[in-house]
Formats: sequence, structure tokens, C-alpha cells
Amino acid sequence: MPVDYEEVGAELARMFVEGGSFPTINGQLAQHWGIRPPAALFRVKQAVKHGYVAYYQNGGEKGHYHPTAKALAAATKRGWIRLGADRPTPIVAVYSEAGGVGKSTLAREIAVAAARAGLRVLVVDTDTQGTLSGWLLGEIEREIEDDETILPIFKGKPLPEPLVSNYGPYVIPANRGLGELERLVRTALGGTAALKMALQKQADEYDLIVIDTRGGEGAAVNAALTASNLLLVPVQTSLKGLQGLPMVLEYVEQQAALHDLEDTFLGVVPFMYRPRGTADASIYEALKAVLTEEEGSGRLFSPVHMRPGVFRNAELNGPLSFEGPTEGDLHFTVAQILTEVAQRRNLLGGVLRG
Ligand SMILES: Nc1ncnc2c1ncn2[C@@H]1O[C@H](COP(=O)(O)OP(=O)(O)OP(=O)(O)O)[C@@H](O)[C@H]1O
Ligand SMILES: [Mg+2]
Repeated sequence: MPVDYEEVGAELARMFVEGGSFPTINGQLAQHWGIRPPAALFRVKQAVKHGYVAYYQNGGEKGHYHPTAKALAAATKRGWIRLGADRPTPIVAVYSEAGGVGKSTLAREIAVAAARAGLRVLVVDTDTQGTLSGWLLGEIEREIEDDETILPIFKGKPLPEPLVSNYGPYVIPANRGLGELERLVRTALGGTAALKMALQKQADEYDLIVIDTRGGEGAAVNAALTASNLLLVPVQTSLKGLQGLPMVLEYVEQQAALHDLEDTFLGVVPFMYRPRGTADASIYEALKAVLTEEEGSGRLFSPVHMRPGVFRNAELNGPLSFEGPTEGDLHFTVAQILTEVAQRRNLLGGVLRG
């Protein structure tokens, strides 16, 4: 009988969620399935290939596995796991103090991975540059109108009807007109919280909402962070990234206090990591030290390696392939992030409902 890899993926997701990790192929899995170890190894490798498992091996050491969103969805559909069912829909804002560190890239891949796993995903672009909506709606060869963006929300209107990306997610795009937000927020009913209120009304319709920010400070950023209930921060593995981190953490803390939120800092994603550079390794260690010192400051996700060619190609030709990611691939980190999101919020609300 052919092996049902969805079931294998679901089983591995359950093992991970129940145990925090699942056994490497040293006989335990073979025993679990009642097959020989080489057959178990083959089964897991196929699960990796089919996108249910992310795998990484650290310099010849024992491997580590993570269920992908696809595996979590499969396990939930079968009723094998119920993650955060009593919690709200995750609304993840991707934020950094600095520009060009990978915010839109990270937002794109999280949204697309979750959509490919069968989740209903809404992407909200709050950056006047419209980078993310441009990537996701590449096929739309026309200007985005102001009333398709979040702008009308600040004039008392509801969330606009989202566009649909060929890659799966629903998208509320951005355009230059969002620059007006800085002024509008002052007069808007609800002010900075107008976006939050508009998203709350629709949150039940989605499994995951991802908000891309333009970084730095300002009304649009405040509105985005206020609307979110989880915050994810990409940091370049450089001295500049490290030096900027305390400021980001302080900002995060202020936001959390202001809005009386708990458990909202998802963590930091080291970006553009050069595995061969010793400088990057020591900066990674320093990031780790900062994050473990600070209470409630989220976790440090697996670093995303610097791969200019791959990422340039993804900008032109669409999101990365996510089958069988290994350490250093953005999709290994995305699998980690989605697992963490599922543990803190109701990531799979739609799957449970449907
Ligand atoms: N790991 C990586 N290796 C190499 N290039 C990368 C990597 N991640 C992202 N890039 C590229 O770096 C550039 C900046 O990424 P991105 O636009 O996601 O950053 P951003 O933080 O959203 O920028 P902005 O502040 O302008 O919004 C893009 O060209 C992207 O394709
Ligand atoms: Mg961006």
C-alpha cells in the first residue's frame, strides 16, 4: 500500500507538538511505525520532500526537524492537535527599526507558506512602497487605487475587499497615497487604533493575518503594531543589526505596555547570515545573549542565510519553493515561526471551523 505522506506529516506534527521535538531516525520512529529503520528514514525524507517537515543538520550532528504549516494543518484537520483554539486569530506584524533587512521577504514567505498549507491568509501592506503587494499581485498591471488600501479605514470606512494573489493569500495592497496616513490618523475616529478595530471585525474569516510595515517610526507603523497581536523582527546579522536591537526591544515593550498585551513578541529572525563569516557567528551569539537577558523578549529563530541570487530571483519570479527546506533556508525558519505562532494563537481556526 502506498504511504500517505499527509498522514506521516500529521503524525510527525503531533509528535512535535506533544514532545517539543520529535525523534530523529534512530530506530524510535521505526519502532513507532513498526517498520525497519531504513524504511523509516525513507518515509521521513519523503515527508521532507512533500513539504511536511523541515529538516536541518548541524555540521554532521544529529538532525533537527520541524513540522511545516502543511503538517500542522494536516494534524489539526484529523483532530490530532488543537492548538490555541481558545485564543484569537494571529495577527503578525513584521517590523524592524532599520530598512532593507528582509521584512517584506519574511512576510511574503510566511503568508505564502501558510496559504499553500490550505490556510486562509490575509496580507495587509502598510508600506507606501508597496513592496509586498507588488510581489504578491505582480500580475495586476494597473495602479492601486487609494480606496483599495487601508486608507479609507481612517476615514470611517470598513476594511476594503481584499484582492487575491496568484500565490494564495488575500491582499490589501498599499500605494503612495498611504503617506496621507500620518495626517489622517490625527482626525480618524479611533486614531491609531482604527486599523485594529477594522481588522478585529474580520479576523474570524482568516486563519492568519500578516501585516508588513515600512519600519522605523510613524503613524502607519503605530497603526500596524497596534493592530497586531504578535510581532516578528528580522535583524541583519551585522554589527548595525545588533546595535539596533535594544532600541527595537524598547519600542516593543512600550507598545506592549500601551496596549496591555502579553505574549506578543514572537521573536527575532537573523537575516542575511553568512555561515562562513566568523563575524556573523559571533553576532548571532551576541543576539542570543541580548534576547536571553531580556525578559519576555521572544525567541531567536534559526538564521536565514545570505543568498542574493535566490532572493533576487524570488522577487522577479515569485515566492521561494518550500519543499524540503534545510537549515539556513528561509522556509526552515518559516516552519519554526509558524509552529511558534500556532502555540501562541489560534493559527488553525479556519481549518477547525471548516
Ligand atoms: N537572506 C537574504 N539573502 C540575500 N538577499 C536577501 C535575503 N533576504 C532578503 N534579501 C533581499 O534583500 C532586499 C531587501 O529585502 P526586503 O525588501 O524584504 O527588506 P525590507 O526590510 O522589507 O525593506 P524595506 O525597509 O525597504 O521595506 C530584497 O532585495 C530581498 O530580495
Ligand atoms: Mg519592505
